[in-house]
Amino acid sequence: MPNDAAAELARLVDLATPFAIRAAVALRLPELVAGGTTTTADLAATSGSDADSLDRLLRHLVNVGLFAVEDGEYALTDLSRELLSEQQRWQRGWLALDGPGAKMDLAYSGMLHSVRTGESAYGHAHGVDFWTDYQRDEKLRLFFGAIMAAHAWQTGPAVAADYDWTAVNRVLDVGGGIGALLSEVLLKHPHLHGAVLDLPPVRPEAEQALADAGLAGRAEFVGGSFFDPLPTGYDVLLVSRVLTDWNDEDAAKILRRCAETGARVVVVEVLAGTEHAKNNSSFDLQSLTLLGGRERTIDDFHALAASAGLAVRGTHEGQGGLVVVECVAV
Ligand SMILES: C[S@@+](CC[C@H](N)C(=O)[O-])C[C@H]1O[C@@H](n2cnc3c(N)ncnc32)[C@H](O)[C@@H]1O
Repeated sequence: MPNDAAAELARLVDLATPFAIRAAVALRLPELVAGGTTTTADLAATSGSDADSLDRLLRHLVNVGLFAVEDGEYALTDLSRELLSEQQRWQRGWLALDGPGAKMDLAYSGMLHSVRTGESAYGHAHGVDFWTDYQRDEKLRLFFGAIMAAHAWQTGPAVAADYDWTAVNRVLDVGGGIGALLSEVLLKHPHLHGAVLDLPPVRPEAEQALADAGLAGRAEFVGGSFFDPLPTGYDVLLVSRVLTDWNDEDAAKILRRCAETGARVVVVEVLAGTEHAKNNSSFDLQSLTLLGGRERTIDDFHALAASAGLAVRGTHEGQGGLVVVECVAV
């Protein structure tokens, strides 16, 4: 009989379970069982699986409590009911083993490379770096963009309300994705005009989102890279949840491009160590392995701004670790 620590260790290192659950999600096994398809033969036929292999998968899923079984009929448990709940809709999208979320998570397989070098491990797992893959894999880009937009729709109202936009006319949302944050700001402040600068492949979804927000006449999409010279003529450059994707050297390069325009630079981030994610330390490791990025403290932002020729004029902390750092060129 293993002792408690040995059992806990065995549980922690077992990779079969997360992959088995992700395979079940991809095969829609919880949905099928909930809909009355309950035998291995029927589940295999409906999900397009090899019956023997599916049986072995189901045996493990029963062992870990995802399903119950009686007389060869599978049934839901609290775990599978939870997986099917509306609150877990996002999580299901992330878990499916054949989907973009799992593709991102596979970067964890290169964690040793990340820890040794401080670099993203995505290329280690997929042979190409994340941002290159993101530009050519539409499913990955739309999935990542939707996660970002969901986040921006939470933080956007705070930025729109808390920052003083009265003396501002034109805003550039640098690395603004589909413009979720810019939309919040423009909708709340009708005197503002703006643009989203992001990688060219983001254009269709960004233009659609801006049009859907009723902002087609007040906001445009500018395709480009924030490592190249940025367009001028804007009073404020918003840099939201962008620096977190990069190491200090690259983050400083982005801020230097912003500083060159002479505009005020408003950095929006979530502070390191705050409980915005269920498990902040694992979120941070995901940032490292997926992107080579990092979360930062207020002191880190001061240092980063200084290294890019900017001075921090003020910081404002909001709920959930949200921080708005206003910088000006020195
Ligand atoms: C983490 S998302 C943040 C999106 C948005 N600002 C927000 O707050 O939700 C990072 C964004 O940076 C963009 N991006 C990545 N590399 C870029 C580059 N070299 N130039 C411009 N945008 C880039 C991505 O397309 C993505 O939209």
